[in-house]
Amino acid sequence: MILIRSLSLVKAGHRVLHDIDLDWGGGITLLAGANGAGKTLLTRCLLGLEDFTGSITIDGASWNRDRARQSIGYVIQDPQRHFLGLSCAEEVGFGRRGVDVSGVLRRFGLEPYAEVPPLLLSGGEQRRLALATATALNPPYLILDEPFNALDRDGVRETLRVMLERSRAGTGVLVITHDLEKCLAHADRVVLLQQGTVMAAGTVSEVWSKFDAAGVHPPGAGPDGYSTCTWL
Ligand SMILES: Nc1ncnc2c1ncn2[C@@H]1O[C@H](COP(=O)(O)OP(=O)(O)OP(=O)(O)O)[C@@H](O)[C@H]1O
Ligand SMILES: [Mg+2]
Repeated sequence: MILIRSLSLVKAGHRVLHDIDLDWGGGITLLAGANGAGKTLLTRCLLGLEDFTGSITIDGASWNRDRARQSIGYVIQDPQRHFLGLSCAEEVGFGRRGVDVSGVLRRFGLEPYAEVPPLLLSGGEQRRLALATATALNPPYLILDEPFNALDRDGVRETLRVMLERSRAGTGVLVITHDLEKCLAHADRVVLLQQGTVMAAGTVSEVWSKFDAAGVHPPGAGPDGYSTCTWL
């Protein structure tokens, strides 16, 4: 479990995250909320990319940057901004000793692009590469920030399959998304952020009545029909 207590963050003189308490464990957790609610910043705090106050523990041990980076795989909202490798093969292996690079590329259908620079891939292929890279070492926790953006049907399905496969293998998967109709059926838990605070957290049924107030469009299926909210 990752336990977050009283986490706050100030950016440019404004408090953008306020006293966040959150428990994140196994299964698939969806993190939703309006634009600017603080979803990305909260996950950046977990990774040690922001200077927050408050406390975090990871599987009982106190948080530090190294532990966070070893424990949490992360696909950022705009993965193309952070590619480090000169080729896809180099990107998957970058800083990850012992990774079976060709196995990972094969699993994600990226083998033909092994020697291609990541920035030359299409948008959807770049997302696939980022997902392959983040999961290459099977981290116990995985954060996907808007993973369905700009993906076609097969890309969305592949991403959902990876989420489910990881979750079944025991990885805690946290998915930030505005696309509830694509994935809500698979959510074990939903957390709603509003203006930097947790306004609701629980099962889909428990939080359904709060979607609208959180600025999240409730999928048309209704609280009893959300099992149809999947592109799989
Ligand atoms: N460096 C910064 N300086 C000042 N404000 C910032 C900075 N970075 C982010 N913010 C503000 O913090 C708030 C939360 O940003 P964040 O990126 O976490 O939103 P989000 O919930 O991920 O939104 P979206 O759905 O649009 O991705 C926003 O109002 C944003 O403008
Ligand atoms: Mg964001």
